[in-house]
Amino acid sequence: DYYEKTCTAPVNIAVIKYWGKRDVSLNLPTNSSLSVTLSQDNLQSKTTIRADPSFSKTRLWLNGVEEDVSASKRIQTCIKEARRLRSLYEQQLLRDGNSEVVPLSEYNLHICSENNFPTAAGLASSASGFACFVYTLAQLYSLPNSLSELSIIARQGSGSACRSLFGGFVAWEMGVNNDGSDSMAVQIADEHHWPELIALICVVSDAKKAIGSTVGMQVTVKTSSLLKERIECVVPKRMEEMVKAIKDKDFDAFAELTMRDSNQFHAVCLDSFPPIFYLNDISRAIIRLVEEYNSTSCNYKAAYTFDAGPNAVIYTLRENADELVGLIKRYFMGEEREQIPSGFRADAVPIFEEGSVKQLIRTTVGDGPRVIEDG
Ligand code: DP6
Repeated sequence: DYYEKTCTAPVNIAVIKYWGKRDVSLNLPTNSSLSVTLSQDNLQSKTTIRADPSFSKTRLWLNGVEEDVSASKRIQTCIKEARRLRSLYEQQLLRDGNSEVVPLSEYNLHICSENNFPTAAGLASSASGFACFVYTLAQLYSLPNSLSELSIIARQGSGSACRSLFGGFVAWEMGVNNDGSDSMAVQIADEHHWPELIALICVVSDAKKAIGSTVGMQVTVKTSSLLKERIECVVPKRMEEMVKAIKDKDFDAFAELTMRDSNQFHAVCLDSFPPIFYLNDISRAIIRLVEEYNSTSCNYKAAYTFDAGPNAVIYTLRENADELVGLIKRYFMGEEREQIPSGFRADAVPIFEEGSVKQLIRTTVGDGPRVIEDG
């Protein structure tokens, strides 16, 4: 007698960045953050979880390779928290007079998790992965809890994962409680709100492996005085402005806030000691290209943002997407033919060799986790 669920969850890309923890084991952030959930047509994690009373232990496979569950504190925390909610739910069902309550909270699990995007692409998968894991477990356990409540569990797997519980535009409210009970994700607008918005993911080739975000954040919190300015004076106001920009579908405001926040996040990394570098020459040339492209109009036409690596995500509107894709292909992917838009100074951006951008993924705003199969 086994019970099984399969679900998928999306990737999210922050436009107000999470960087810094006030509690390392609970993943409580030093500032609120805000992200756009990307369509699952292009990028998603998929997880199948089976609960069976005959399983002798809980096992986990990531992209087909078995991992040691006992070695991952984050996975164990998520399982422990979901089991706690399940056993509360079982007790409630029993109190309500349900005689046949399955004690799923006591069964061991077999978990299979995979991503539909190549790991070679170097795209972070922990956000969609943990969101998918927690969502699938919640489905398996038939938990009555809200997505925001589930986001509290996903947050403990990976901070940014809490935002992948929702589609559309999502804020992670930092909260003030020491136990993290108010540090959760909330939806600002759903995936239908701004259909013209396009995300172009530029997978940038990179030889060296950058310092991971968990470790990087700790160095920043310990050593950067600029971080204090960012979390106290800048982000609170910027969060309000970003929510308004999104609600008003004001691309001009959205674009400037997005670029400024990415820049400040990387400035805070540089202000850490020893300094942390995530951008490379190609990343910086992409910034130049977007700057030059924006200078061809009195309104912003595109906005770049970078996470803890050299890959760029460029937000733009549908009307500009083809033109921008042409420019990226011309400058970073070895394509000659593309026309240059009027006003764009062709020599303002250095031309890089073919393969400098290895892959260009064009996508839109997408929905939250989905159940795809019942067992
Ligand atoms: C730069 O969520 O990966 O992408 O909580 O330690 O797992 P942990 O960190 P993680 O950090 C993401 C940092 C970022 C900005 C963001 O997504 O907001």
